[in-house]
Amino acid sequence: MIITIDGPAGAGKTTTARKLAARLGVPYLDTGAMYRAITVAALDDGIDLTDEAALTRLAAQDEFNLELGEDGIRVILRGRDITDEIRTMRVNDHTPYIAGSPGVRKLLIGKQRAIAEQLGSLVTEGRDQGSAAFPHADLKFFVTANLPTRAKRRLAELRGDEGATLASVRDNLAERDRTDSERPVAPLVRPPDAIDIDTSALSIDGVVEAMLAHLREAGLVGAESS
Ligand code: DC
Repeated sequence: MIITIDGPAGAGKTTTARKLAARLGVPYLDTGAMYRAITVAALDDGIDLTDEAALTRLAAQDEFNLELGEDGIRVILRGRDITDEIRTMRVNDHTPYIAGSPGVRKLLIGKQRAIAEQLGSLVTEGRDQGSAAFPHADLKFFVTANLPTRAKRRLAELRGDEGATLASVRDNLAERDRTDSERPVAPLVRPPDAIDIDTSALSIDGVVEAMLAHLREAGLVGAESS
């Protein structure tokens, strides 16, 4: 069973995906972490982030691993644990270059499908999981939240990253919304067959309950997942 969760930054995808997966007893995949890992590698190597061929070569080296655990994903790049580093503003600011590379996207979608094949069942979240990576997913969710709510959540996630304020995080999110939806390569689009969930006024548990209700309705899980 493949369940996709797509939506803009800060809509609550990662936490929701983790909790939903735990309730279902299946692994979850944070595909943003993959784009972030390549960003760290590119910054480490001093690669020109507009050099498509160099970015694609870097991604093809496949030098990072995701360790999918119940309480989170650890990201290992070239033997180094970069789980915390990928959440910094520096990495936030540079990831759109990586996400805008067609070569990188193709390779990462391949990696996502290979992981799904290996695991069988998966809750996977990102921007293109229902639209490009898993068009035949069993159920697709598209989660949104208003900008102030998303900024508050993202600030909490940054946990004191130097210089981050509510205003700077909000501006950063607004800019990422723009680049995510206006970029020529794989812009954020709502899959037409996705179920919309506005998480602004919901707790994470509320979102997970709403998703479980849809899964039950679709006959994908039994009443025991209540
Ligand atoms: O979800 P996130 O904030 O960790 O995503 C980091 C960046 O990667 C963001 O710029 C969007 C991009 N991304 C993407 O283009 N496609 C995905 N499947 C996941 C993330």
